Amino acid sequence: MKTYLLIGGKSGIGAALAEQLKSQGHIVHTTSREGAETSTHHLLDVLDDDPTFPELNSPIDGLVYCPGSINLKPIKSLKPKHFREDFELNVIGFIKTLHAYREALIEAKSASVVLFSTVAVQTGMSYHASVAASKGAIEGLARSLAAEFAPKIRVNVVAPSLTDTPLAKRLLRTDAQREASAERHPLKQIGEAKNVADAAAFLLSDQSLWMTGQVIGVDGGMSAIKSI
Ligand SMILES: NC(=O)c1ccc[n+]([C@@H]2O[C@H](COP(=O)([O-])OP(=O)(O)OC[C@H]3O[C@@H](n4cnc5c(N)ncnc54)[C@H](OP(=O)(O)O)[C@@H]3O)[C@@H](O)[C@H]2O)c1
Repeated sequence: MKTYLLIGGKSGIGAALAEQLKSQGHIVHTTSREGAETSTHHLLDVLDDDPTFPELNSPIDGLVYCPGSINLKPIKSLKPKHFREDFELNVIGFIKTLHAYREALIEAKSASVVLFSTVAVQTGMSYHASVAASKGAIEGLARSLAAEFAPKIRVNVVAPSLTDTPLAKRLLRTDAQREASAERHPLKQIGEAKNVADAAAFLLSDQSLWMTGQVIGVDGGMSAIKSI
């Protein structure tokens, strides 16, 4: 039985991952910005200047950072403040989290950190400049931390394409949007939260013990295949 902390494990990919890890008998701590607290669910806003991170009082075998953004706009509408906001949530929020739990990760026998990027880092996509910049930073940061923390803590990244979660709901409002989005992917479907959670669960588990500094595309083939 392992102890995992999922920052933002109440919706989308994080919620699917929490469900999976709990069903395997692990202790799973989750967070959200609103709602009721329990012994394993905590309130946290990583955008606070000095967030109150929950005290778990135990080593942490796995840390997953779920907060992210999809702000798609042409560059003429993307002002510096939009880039800063995306960077604060995607990158700085994780840095604050890592500082809060670095020692608890080191105390574990062998810990794993999982971050989320996007397919739009490896594959250039219109209107993704801000999110691609922040998630590109996450990929570089993850590799750097993987080097710094080896062999004690593994650090890997999952890079999804469009996945059916609350974060993506504006892009998946209508059947026409869903069909067009599915059609753009070589595997002809958009992602389900579970598809992405499965990859994160693998990276947390001992099945990936010899992997660190990797970015895994879970993207319906989008980053690797061109349909003809
Ligand atoms: N869905 C996609 O199509 C897609 C595609 C590419 C990459 N990704 C990446 O995958 C990751 C997970 O995305 P998702 O689709 O599962 O998103 P989601 O459903 O919006 O879940 C994000 C989680 O992060 C938490 N969160 C958001 N802002 C926070 C803050 N300021 N402080 C603390 N927690 C905060 C949310 O908690 P609350 O309960 O407080 O809202 C929520 O539980 C993200 O990093 C995203 O960028 C997603």
